[in-house]
Amino acid sequence: MEQTLVLVKGDGVRRRLIGEIVRRIEAKGLDIRAMQLMDVSRELAEEHYAEHREKPFFGELVDFITSTPVVAMRIEGEGAIAVVRRLMGSTNPAEAPPGTIRGDLALSLPDNLVHGSDSPESAQRELGLFFGGKI
Ligand code: TYD
Ligand code: MG
Repeated sequence: MEQTLVLVKGDGVRRRLIGEIVRRIEAKGLDIRAMQLMDVSRELAEEHYAEHREKPFFGELVDFITSTPVVAMRIEGEGAIAVVRRLMGSTNPAEAPPGTIRGDLALSLPDNLVHGSDSPESAQRELGLFFGGKI
């Protein structure tokens, strides 16, 4: 069964949307296999977002994800990676369709509430980072 990493990022925790986001994941029929509220170190943030290291928004992104605790979840289900990406909606909340987490609950970057792994390789790598206890 496929697994993916979901993060409720700092804006979601600050806005007390953990329950709302977990509710949508559960309602869809996905299973929560692990869940933890945790601080994100700069090292973990930079490793997690390594693919974006050269992007202009990288510094802001790392500041954002390290500024407040996040909720990390190991989510399991058939096609979980793509299903979670569809539940989240597009990266830019302004363009995310109504009915999605970002489309219903967020307005503009970088505050887009959630992270979901984008491929089986990313999921394996990111689950290792957040639940493997190495960083
Ligand atoms: P990305 O991996 O492209 O999006 P997603 O979270 O949908 O997989 O980008 C990672 C995060 O970087 C994104 O959630 C928010 C932030 N970001 C910006 O702040 N500005 C941008 O222009 C982009 C593309 C992303
Ligand atoms: Mg991504």
